[in-house]
Amino acid sequence: MRRLLVTGGAGFIGSNFVRMMLSEHPDCFIVNLDKLTYAGNLENLAGPVRSETPEGTSNGAGFLDNPNHKFIKGDICDGALIEKIVEQYRIDTIINFAAESHVDRSISEPKIFIETNVTGTLTLLEVARDKKLERFIQISTDEVYGALGPQGKFTEETPLSPNSPYSASKAAADQLVAAFGHTWGVKYNITRCSNNYGPYQFPEKLIPLMTNNALDDKELPVYGDGLYVRDWLYVYDHCTAIWQVLQKAPPGEIYNIGGCNEKTNLEVIYLILKRLGKPKSLIKYVTDRPGHDRRYAIDASKIISGLNWRPSVSFEEGIEKTIDWYVQNQKWLANVVSGEYQKYYESMYGNR
Ligand code: NAD
Ligand code: TYD
Repeated sequence: MRRLLVTGGAGFIGSNFVRMMLSEHPDCFIVNLDKLTYAGNLENLAGPVRSETPEGTSNGAGFLDNPNHKFIKGDICDGALIEKIVEQYRIDTIINFAAESHVDRSISEPKIFIETNVTGTLTLLEVARDKKLERFIQISTDEVYGALGPQGKFTEETPLSPNSPYSASKAAADQLVAAFGHTWGVKYNITRCSNNYGPYQFPEKLIPLMTNNALDDKELPVYGDGLYVRDWLYVYDHCTAIWQVLQKAPPGEIYNIGGCNEKTNLEVIYLILKRLGKPKSLIKYVTDRPGHDRRYAIDASKIISGLNWRPSVSFEEGIEKTIDWYVQNQKWLANVVSGEYQKYYESMYGNR
């Protein structure tokens, strides 16, 4: 049985990963460590564990009463806690999802990004080194490569050239992971995925924010000309890629993950409006994000040929499933946008 410490498992991608693991890979035990920041939410771990696929082995049990899952509230910067967890639960692998993850927040308040994304990763690496763990998997992002012009794609050889405090903190963490491999022989992998979308994403990111606003007939704030390009991947497919890395990747390898779904922001927003039957007049062009990266695109051929991974959900199918999920889970949406979110929204969009 693999014994995993998953950090950030109450966030968007982490909770989807834990859900996939519990429903499809019952031979793994997971300690889920999460600080429960504004982005971490125990409601992401509520309800029965249901798989996205018919092969899933859902037994109707929940997360929190699942014998293969132990949730612990805590900070990845707390070395003593990490060490205790690793010893007590005989952890063999750390998968580090925990992060501050939103570019706009990193522009208004960069410091916490360095604390969590850099110091937190360092703290986990020290434990992985001292306890000689079998593997350390760092969940990184394509944003560490910087921005592309109209042509080309990021490969694993593309030099790191981050532009935002968020991507700079993620690139620093990646470099630390590689340095721990080089200096102390820590066995690691780094995954660099493109933009994810799907259920349980906090509505500060493009797709859930636009969906939530459109449902409320509120303006849709489009930065700049709306022609920025992102390469979208359905979150479940990101999770299956990480599973392939966990099972098969040789140590020291880095994998780009992406779905070959390049879309402009306006194309995505039009699809949301169409699905919800709302008018394009809701769109409002607002002041651009400073230093906004024009285009991201992933060359995923290494993970496709090397680990036999393929995305299973097309963008057209995934975006419909995602919008429908938000429509069907308006209670979840209403809960996460109550309180603190209103203040955030006002400060980010109030005078834009
Ligand atoms: P998220 O913001 O939804 O979740 C982050 C989680 O980390 C939250 O549950 C939060 O409570 C937790 N956390 C934050 N600080 C912590 C700390 N100090 N200690 C413990 N837990 C802490 O983020 P996400 O979108 O799920 O992203 C997960 C990972 O994937 C991140 O590392 C991100 O950089 C990476 N990534 C995200 C995307 C994307 O499109 N969302 C794409 C590629 C890579
Ligand atoms: P986001 O979801 O924040 O992801 P990232 O910046 O990490 O790629 O944004 C995706 C794209 O959508 C990006 O080009 C910025 C744009 N965007 C808007 O135009 N309006 C918004 O309100 C948000 C949140 C994003």
